[in-house]
Amino acid sequence: MDKVLERIRVANLSELPKNLGKTVKIGPYDIALFHLADGKIRAIENRCPHRGGVLAEGMISGEYVFCPMHDWKINVSDGNVQAPDTGCVKTFEVEVDQDEVFIVLNP
Ligand code: FES
Repeated sequence: MDKVLERIRVANLSELPKNLGKTVKIGPYDIALFHLADGKIRAIENRCPHRGGVLAEGMISGEYVFCPMHDWKINVSDGNVQAPDTGCVKTFEVEVDQDEVFIVLNP
């Protein structure tokens, strides 16, 4: 049976400041949405794998967010925690259509 993708509008691109995270809640998902300096939009699980820091409140630098709790560095494109720390967060697919930003859930 085909999987049904769910595409949920979460923001207007023009209202997302660059290098500032936004918390988005969709059902059970708590998601950190980022508008990177180069214009890309990325979405990851909003919970640091270390001790649950809120990643949407972290500092963004390039493709990375620094957890506001203890400064773990996490790649917002592939979700991987950077060495010397280890772990990863879930990533979410994002689509931008004109000024609208969508998250695509793949159940
Ligand atoms: S909770 Fe994120 S680095 Fe500790």
